[in-house]
Amino acid sequence: MSVDLEDAPSFPVPRTVPYQPPESYRQISSRGPLNKVTLWDKRRVWLVTGYAQGRRLLSDPKLSADRTRQEYPTMAPHLGAQAARKLVLVGEDPPIHDIHRRLLNPEFSLKKARALAPRIQELVDGLIDDMLAAGPTADLVQSYALPIPSLVMSELVGVPYEDHKFFQAATAGVMQAREPAETEAAGAQLAQYLGTLVERNLTEPGDGVIGRLVHYVQAGTITAAELTQLSMVLMIAGLETTSSMIPLGVVTLFAHPEQLAAFISGEVPVQTAVEELLRYLAVTDFAAVRWVTDDIEIDDVVIRAGDGIVVSSTMVNRDESVHADPHVFDISRGNRQHLTFGYGIHQCLGQNLARLQLETAYRTLFARIPGLRLAVPFEDLRMRSSGTMQGLESLPVTW
Ligand code: HEM
Repeated sequence: MSVDLEDAPSFPVPRTVPYQPPESYRQISSRGPLNKVTLWDKRRVWLVTGYAQGRRLLSDPKLSADRTRQEYPTMAPHLGAQAARKLVLVGEDPPIHDIHRRLLNPEFSLKKARALAPRIQELVDGLIDDMLAAGPTADLVQSYALPIPSLVMSELVGVPYEDHKFFQAATAGVMQAREPAETEAAGAQLAQYLGTLVERNLTEPGDGVIGRLVHYVQAGTITAAELTQLSMVLMIAGLETTSSMIPLGVVTLFAHPEQLAAFISGEVPVQTAVEELLRYLAVTDFAAVRWVTDDIEIDDVVIRAGDGIVVSSTMVNRDESVHADPHVFDISRGNRQHLTFGYGIHQCLGQNLARLQLETAYRTLFARIPGLRLAVPFEDLRMRSSGTMQGLESLPVTW
């Protein structure tokens, strides 16, 4: 395969339609599954748009997720901040990654997620009661999409929900800042806040993940600082993703009325519909960013040690060899082959919990407010302009 190294288009490019990749992404992937793109800092990296190639590379131990190394590609200016580079778990390689992951895995099993289902339902119903009492018209981002994961993650991790304004702003500050200084400040505030909680749990263990993991600190397996960092990663990863995905999914259903009707009628199981939303929306846009520690040969291309690799979930999920008519949104598709949750050792820890929240959020919303519709013309919806996570500024709805 030949790759044109001279013509490396800009990446990432903002979406204009919430559920469609920019035109340039389609052009890039039409050239083949492995291409070069140019980042904001002029660095050239590999962009993977093929599903098989994405999985093959993300299971290769020659890929490193260590963000503290200068070889690690910085995808946006704010991600150059220390607070975004020194992330435990997601930014670690084995063996330390395995140690941290093993501590957390039991907290995020399918069984644990299922046990939370009644509580998640109760929280979601409570938010709809509030919306119905205050409306009609609501901003679905503020009234629904942000509070769902905030309530769920605060209960799960053991963070007081009363502090939600602070931790929502701080996690958004890390992820969606425009400047590295903003990310640094938000990261420092969040670390200080969670550090105090960890200290408190050391003497009075609460019933969240922090309270359950403090005995590893007492036993010397990890330090209090590591537990603070782990809870920080959980809060960032758990809040930004799910809260961005809920409104994007609602808008995608609004834009495809026949699919929405099939969803509301129950013709298609909610799990199948959510899987298609996950595939189609690829909310993180790129599932993984890595650098290569040793040469890798793939499809007759040599990826050199030190090269950066970005796996585009947006385009991998639309690989024609895996999905027929990949650009068509079809909630009955029933094909779970997508990389929205990544692949390999860093595959999303919270995916069971994410699926459960999304299923409950969409099902309950349309069941309890069947006449739900946009309160503004579709063209007036604005994608968030900062950060790399795909999301809407607001989603005004009425009923
Ligand atoms: C729609 C929702 C979500 C999406 C699309 C998503 C996506 C992803 C992706 C693509 C990765 C892999 C990153 C990489 O390989 O570099 C990842 C990792 C991770 N996710 Fe999620 N995520 C979601 C929800 C959640 C939730 C609810 C949690 C709750 C705690 C969570 C926690 C994590 C953690 C801790 C990691 C790092 C795992 C590791 O490095 O071993 N995510 N997620």
